[in-house]
Amino acid sequence: MVSAMSESQVAPEHMTREEFRQAGLEFIDLICDYWEDIEELPVNPSVDPGSLLEALPESPPQEPESWDDIQSDVRRLILPAITNWQSPGFFGYFPANASAPAVLGELLSAGLGVQGMLWSTSPACTELEMRMLDWLGEMIGLPDTFMHSSGVGGGVIQGTASEASLVALVAARSRWSGGGELKAYASDQAHSSIAKAIRICGLQEDDLRLIKSDPDDAYAMQSEALEERIKLDVADGVAPFFICATVGTTSTGALDSVRELGRIARQCGAWLHVDAAYAGSALVCPEHRAMIDGIERADSFCFNPHKWLLTNFDLSALWVQDRAHVLNALSITPEYLKNTATERGGVVDFRDWQIPLGRRFRALKLWFVIRQYGVAGLQAYIRRHIELASQFEQWVEEDDRFELVAPRCLSLVCFRLRGDDDRTRELLERLNATGEVFLTHSAVPDSTGTMRYFIRMAIGATKTEDHHVQRAWSLIQRETSAVLDGG
Ligand SMILES: Cc1ncc(COP(=O)(O)O)c(C=O)c1O
Repeated sequence: MVSAMSESQVAPEHMTREEFRQAGLEFIDLICDYWEDIEELPVNPSVDPGSLLEALPESPPQEPESWDDIQSDVRRLILPAITNWQSPGFFGYFPANASAPAVLGELLSAGLGVQGMLWSTSPACTELEMRMLDWLGEMIGLPDTFMHSSGVGGGVIQGTASEASLVALVAARSRWSGGGELKAYASDQAHSSIAKAIRICGLQEDDLRLIKSDPDDAYAMQSEALEERIKLDVADGVAPFFICATVGTTSTGALDSVRELGRIARQCGAWLHVDAAYAGSALVCPEHRAMIDGIERADSFCFNPHKWLLTNFDLSALWVQDRAHVLNALSITPEYLKNTATERGGVVDFRDWQIPLGRRFRALKLWFVIRQYGVAGLQAYIRRHIELASQFEQWVEEDDRFELVAPRCLSLVCFRLRGDDDRTRELLERLNATGEVFLTHSAVPDSTGTMRYFIRMAIGATKTEDHHVQRAWSLIQRETSAVLDGG
């Protein structure tokens, strides 16, 4: 009995410095090999649901296991069952870029083990984030009023664009001082995370008015329809407190007019949030800034460097012009979080700018990425993908078996086989079955209101080059012939 008790009180053994170093080097090697060989791997794993679950023990090990066993299980069990998002043949959804400096930023963040909920719980975590969000804001052409340097606005790292929308929504609700039944407005092409944020806020589904987008205007929200709807709602005593403009919708990359929506928002006192989750990365190139013309009218703006700016998931950047509304909505200070720095004022506590309390040191990876590539390198990266997409778009246009569903948005090309949806569906299945490429689909109504299924070619994986896009086009040609010949 005595010996059992004392055994259980023995402190667990940590890895020695040398064991850790060795294991770390092996993992870095594993990542290098993975990146080098990724082209040879099928983009999607061919595994049956539940197969990993079956291979994993049902209960945790009672005794420590050797690191060699753990590491070999990564190769044996995990790698064969992942979707290879970093494959240059990955053209699905939107990209989720990984890069060497960002991975090193993640590693350092994990190693330092910092939890930066308050300025005082790690001053560097907060201040590096403030400076990085100011840098990034400047890089994408946001007005100075969105910067920390303004003393009023500022940016913050969120996990995802979904969380950013939720933060914007609660800030908008907190700012709304009139009465009335709260209503929010977004395009029928807005991301589903807006509807989810509405639910989380305790509002009802029909408290989000989905305003029709216009197929003849590249699926942008019809701002006249928005204005009309708000007029009717206000006449009914409703409170239009939040409008979301999407810059680069998920299905087709549609661009709502920030200027127009901003005008309407100002007229009715609503908060304007701009969701540029994917397209925002392209703003590092000045030639694409027309997409956010009128941004000075927005209250908040978000984009995801974790999609297309070489910064590993997760890192979504949110800026607001007036931080006071976010703080009013989210700041609660129990006794155990009180501290001298906060009480003296003059510090930013990012816990008040987000849903959770705790937060990782994510600014490190942004710092490394921006410094390692430089603004010029990031611009060249984005421009290269857009050029590839433009070439791809041209091939589609020149082949009269296909039609574009919407004009290309940056590096996203949406196309379908003319005629019945089933052909396009079959084409997509055949393409993905090759294992060489992975593309995804969506559907939008055409100008007659008929829903059209289409394939999205989203170029933007870190390692995608000319020949990968050419290969994808060859496969599309080959599989299209098979679909049309019934073979
Ligand atoms: C326009 C838009 N908004 C929001 C999101 C959600 O992004 P996240 O996964 O960061 O929440 C996406 C995802 O693709 C998107 O395209």
